[in-house]
Amino acid sequence: MIDLSIDFAGIKSPNPFWLASAPPTNSGYQIMKAFEAGWGGAVWKTLGVPTINVSSRYGAINYRDTRMAGFSNIELISDRPLEDNLREMEEVKKYFPNHAVIASLMVDTREEWIQIIKDVENAGADGIELNFGCPHGMCERGMGSAVGQEPAVLKTIVEWVMDAAKIPVITKLSPNISHIIDPGLAAVQGGTDAISLVNTFKSIVGVDLDSYAPYPVVDGKGTNGGYCGPAVKPIALNMVKDLAQHQEINHVPISGIGGIETWRDVVEFMLLGATSVQVCTAAMHYGFGIVREMESGLRQFMDDKGYQTIYDFAGKALPNVTEWKHLNLEYDVKAQINEDKCIGCDLCYIACDDGAHQAISLSSNGNRIPSIIDENCVGCNLCALVCPVEDCITMERVDDGKKDNTWHERTENNTIPVTFNDDRAGGKGHYVPEPIEALKNRL
Ligand SMILES: Cc1cc2nc3c(=O)[nH]c(=O)nc-3n(C[C@H](O)[C@H](O)[C@H](O)COP(=O)(O)O)c2cc1C
Ligand code: SF4
Ligand code: SF4
Repeated sequence: MIDLSIDFAGIKSPNPFWLASAPPTNSGYQIMKAFEAGWGGAVWKTLGVPTINVSSRYGAINYRDTRMAGFSNIELISDRPLEDNLREMEEVKKYFPNHAVIASLMVDTREEWIQIIKDVENAGADGIELNFGCPHGMCERGMGSAVGQEPAVLKTIVEWVMDAAKIPVITKLSPNISHIIDPGLAAVQGGTDAISLVNTFKSIVGVDLDSYAPYPVVDGKGTNGGYCGPAVKPIALNMVKDLAQHQEINHVPISGIGGIETWRDVVEFMLLGATSVQVCTAAMHYGFGIVREMESGLRQFMDDKGYQTIYDFAGKALPNVTEWKHLNLEYDVKAQINEDKCIGCDLCYIACDDGAHQAISLSSNGNRIPSIIDENCVGCNLCALVCPVEDCITMERVDDGKKDNTWHERTENNTIPVTFNDDRAGGKGHYVPEPIEALKNRL
């Protein structure tokens, strides 16, 4: 019997699907509607000091046919009166006592932190999330990412909060930093109960070619926004992994955020160590109903693999994420084209000839089905990635699987090469065309 419920640093939730602090959690109405739709928790749109927002607020990267592959905003924290938010929070908890309602907070002084923590505890919040992430607007006032980028300041504020809070505290990190371990460690040293990441990335999604201002344009001017959505998922996954592998950090639970849209995304974040997930852009794009696919997909995955709770597989990919120097240099794959599936578009030929290793030749019998030149194929995957037909190009293992040799072992054994002798690059049989061959059609 599958049980999706979680206990996240003491915050109980019927499932690991939470809405991230953002417009979908701007009001009690939206959060109650989301809980009805199946979300297990919601991090309330950040509450704090009074703000005024601008219009417009959002920009996006539309990549080919995909709308909002990346999303950007220059919105501030909640602009609704604090007392309205607190009253609605209390009401949500009355109707949904077993769902997770987490109050995201951002204020300035220690006194303000103590007061607002008291306020949300009185309103029945199950936990607090500290917003040290916004890379626009609030950081100009010394909050948001201005704190997230300064581990020492972050630690001090976490200490203030831990001193005052009676409910669990999640520290939400900014990804606008080159080494995520630094703020992660500072949060743990400050005593945080949990960590969430990522908040948005400082970015400009484009420039209007008439007004010469960055999107979103506000009366002829713009500012950097916070970038999120599917485009940021790979960077978020890597940051979650970094924290989940760190010995001094990984005893606190991690809530994974960044580009999550489907059950697969959820499972990937969990395999890299997250035990709850938060979603913003996908809920803004498609509405609360996406949680149904997330839940049924997660259940199906767990059923197929024989897992009963998410704790049975959380972090299971971590031992397989290693450093480059520990990868097996003897492992060898080569591309193989399935002629029955090939539509003769020759995209693989163009990609390999111009962008890889000249390891695909065009058909000489006019049927447009290309073939792989094994000696030149380094197994880079490029052709399989550009091929528009599913499973038409597969990567097949060609070594016998008996040898395992890594750069690390070579370093230990003093056998690192002193000359360029990689068989896959100009070694045995590998052929690099002469420069003049590029002009053969002209000569
Ligand atoms: C319009 C908008 C407003 C946001 N407001 C907040 C906020 O008030 N507090 C906060 O912690 N994060 C805020 N975020 C960041 C999200 O909570 C989330 O961390 C980020 O969008 C990454 O998740 P996603 O890729 O699912 O959107 C906001 C994001 C967007 C797009
Ligand atoms: S795997 Fe790389 S080198 Fe081999 S054929 Fe494909 S693109 Fe060329
Ligand atoms: S890209 Fe795929 S479908 Fe197109 S020619 Fe190459 S193998 Fe065939």
